[in-house]
Amino acid sequence: MAFVDELAAFQAERLAPILGAGRTALASAAPGAATPPLDTSRLDTSPLDTSLLRIALANEIQVSELAAAWMPTTRELDVKLAFARQAGDEAGHFELVADRLGALGQDLAGFAAPDNPLFQYLRSLTSTVERVAAGLVTLEAIAYGVNENFIALCEQRGDSETARIYRAYIQPDEQRHHQLGQQLIAKYAVSPDQQELARATVARVLEIASAARASAAARLGTACFPGC
Ligand SMILES: [Fe+2]
Ligand SMILES: [Fe+2]
Repeated sequence: MAFVDELAAFQAERLAPILGAGRTALASAAPGAATPPLDTSRLDTSPLDTSLLRIALANEIQVSELAAAWMPTTRELDVKLAFARQAGDEAGHFELVADRLGALGQDLAGFAAPDNPLFQYLRSLTSTVERVAAGLVTLEAIAYGVNENFIALCEQRGDSETARIYRAYIQPDEQRHHQLGQQLIAKYAVSPDQQELARATVARVLEIASAARASAAARLGTACFPGC
């Protein structure tokens, strides 16, 4: 099996509980669900709980900043350009989500994304293999997966416009970022040491993201919220 396929299987296995938690939250929030929602008292009665979109906003700007920070300190030209493109795309996602929040009546003046352990860890990565494995391969896989659950939640709540924005613009980018990451990992993680480093990085990102999402889920009252 090619290393990139092996890494994808390893990642999918560790990503499954995160996506499963979102699907469970989605099912329990469905009208007429046998199990009551986790905590509906903390959710808006508006078509969509805008605090969930604010999470997306914070994630998008933080991934954009991360990719922008990595760009000048990455030597390999194709990886440098991948980070530059990712930084721009995530800035575009920020604008799309911000516009949607504005249309839902939210005032974003003074918005600031809170720092968190996941981005602290990501910023500490210095090698190209670690950065690609963490940022393009893993963060993007998480984003794509949790956004799929979030789209289903939007549709469940009747917010077809937010679902449309995710389907038409955000998800195709996240998928492309992830695929580009896989191509770059196949190219640069060639020695056993580099491959072990890639595997360890994927595991660490999923471990930190999993803990961060669990604590955010407890705060938000649902495990179904978007990524970057
Ligand atoms: Fe992305
Ligand atoms: Fe994004």
